[in-house]
Amino acid sequence: MQSLQKNTRKDFDAPCHLIEPSFYVPNLKEDVRTGLLEAPYSLQPKYFYDERGSQLFDSICNTPEYYPTRVEDELLQLYADSIIAETLPKQIIELGSGTSRKTRRLFDACESKAHCCSYAPFDVCEPMLIQTANDLHSTYSWLDVSPLLGDYHAGLANLPLEYNRNLFVFLGSTIGNFEPEEAKSFILDLRNKMIDGDFFLIGADRVKNINVLNAAYNDSRGLTAEFNLNVLRVLNRELGSNFDLNKFQHQAHYNIEKGRIEMHLLSLEAQKIDIDSLKASFNLQQGEKILTELSHKYEFDEIESLLTNSGFELVKHYQPDNQYFSLLLARAV
Ligand code: SAH
Ligand code: TRP
Repeated sequence: MQSLQKNTRKDFDAPCHLIEPSFYVPNLKEDVRTGLLEAPYSLQPKYFYDERGSQLFDSICNTPEYYPTRVEDELLQLYADSIIAETLPKQIIELGSGTSRKTRRLFDACESKAHCCSYAPFDVCEPMLIQTANDLHSTYSWLDVSPLLGDYHAGLANLPLEYNRNLFVFLGSTIGNFEPEEAKSFILDLRNKMIDGDFFLIGADRVKNINVLNAAYNDSRGLTAEFNLNVLRVLNRELGSNFDLNKFQHQAHYNIEKGRIEMHLLSLEAQKIDIDSLKASFNLQQGEKILTELSHKYEFDEIESLLTNSGFELVKHYQPDNQYFSLLLARAV
């Protein structure tokens, strides 16, 4: 058995490689102008993830209620060896990588097979990317980590793909955070960027008992509430707005007809909010809501069709006995 070579660098200090968008992506100011100055009010989920937001998300993943991380991690533990044996990737590119905690199962599998590859985590949160790259470097000294910073949809066309045999990874049911039409075009755009024979590993949360779903987005420690409210802190800091977090309440519930969790910030009283950098204000009545996140839940066939309708061939569909979560391995054909 060959052995994995160690990187000689002592301290890992790779700067993030900035990935330019290939189509127009509104900035925070523009998104807030569109989303908050006129009803229905909404905010883009990517603004949750400043440093504090990313840390809060990581803590949500440890709560007893938020099962997706645990279940997906168990699937990866069970099947990482066969995934690596099947794909033998030269490069693993992960979209929305966060702390990459579950992706470690794939690196462990590489290690046990003495299979060397590089890793490109792609995320919008720079401090999290840098921290993660450092942490990975201390555990997996053989792993060449190149963090990519940017918007993982608009950036797809500008990814540095040096090799064939890429394994694209998209975990955490982040696909469910797109509107259904957007999810389709995202998967199609990804497929078109991939080289024939490349692999795609995607995790998707499944339709299940409504109480289990509601509890996952309303943890008893209130971390999800903190995370949701944190987006207002981001706006106050970045746009000089004066949201009073005490005047809002986290709300998340499963919409059965639409098959998705809908997360809102509910205005607890009539209030006027000023947004300095837009030189504008808007009024919220008591009970009015700002939509902050959607999390679509998939049926078994639905997630398969999303892939097979977009130029992927299904290799494996893994799920636990309780069918709580799907992990799919597909090949670009
Ligand atoms: N994959 C991890 C994290 C999921 S949370 C897991 O399974 O636990 C979603 C991640 O996507 C966050 O790290 C967030 O910073 C990132 N993200 C959200 N929108 C993004 C976008 N438009 N472009 C790039 N990264 C994004
Ligand atoms: N992709 C995750 C999901 O849909 C994102 C997420 C988990 C999330 N918990 C959240 C987003 C709470 C906002 C708030 O499950």
